[in-house]
Amino acid sequence: MERKIIDEIIRNRRSVFPEMYEDREIDDETILNIIENATWAPNHKLTEPWHFVVFKKNSLEKLSNFLGKHYKESTPEEKFSEMKYKKILSKPLKSACMVAVCYRKGPQNRVPEQEELLAMGAAIENFWLTCSAYGIGCYLSTTSAINHIGELADLQEGERCVGLFYMGWRKPCELTGTRSDYRQKISWIS
Ligand SMILES: Cc1cc2nc3c(=O)[nH]c(=O)nc-3n(C[C@H](O)[C@H](O)[C@H](O)COP(=O)(O)O)c2cc1C
Repeated sequence: MERKIIDEIIRNRRSVFPEMYEDREIDDETILNIIENATWAPNHKLTEPWHFVVFKKNSLEKLSNFLGKHYKESTPEEKFSEMKYKKILSKPLKSACMVAVCYRKGPQNRVPEQEELLAMGAAIENFWLTCSAYGIGCYLSTTSAINHIGELADLQEGERCVGLFYMGWRKPCELTGTRSDYRQKISWIS
């Protein structure tokens, strides 16, 4: 691959929020391709510690209700914001689909959990980059509600959600990213 292409794909990936999604479905073939690319992430001993739960159509409404209920129940009265509550309810409904990225613990703990979670991070990046290449906007939410999503996502023993992707075709808009000077993050030992 030309160096320029990979630079462009990596640097143009952005967090894109539901207000910036078009009201248009994402077909299953595209969703499957995004998930297949995610699973090509490196993972130690090929444990493939992931499970992806896709929410579309009616289940987005269920997710909206679940996230709203969780916010209501977990927020002290004095901190509760009606505006935030409404926003939480609306975001899944503005999304074409949502994907819960779940960690599935292997039966024999063949690999330390830290390594499994690093592999999860790599899968998440592959997922995100593929969305970006398609023109699908997405962002990863790690709201505390993901720790309670087990029943709704039909998670099995030993599984837990590590992040929730909101996704939708991206409206035309400029989004600029920022990073500090990468040279500050490097030490050379010679
Ligand atoms: C592990 C992880 C968790 C994240 N959780 C959230 C989140 O809960 N809410 C949110 O708005 N963004 C979340 N993000 C997105 C980051 O805020 C975002 O990547 C960062 O601001 C850089 O912007 P960019 O993605 O456009 O480069 C998360 C990203 C990662 C990698």
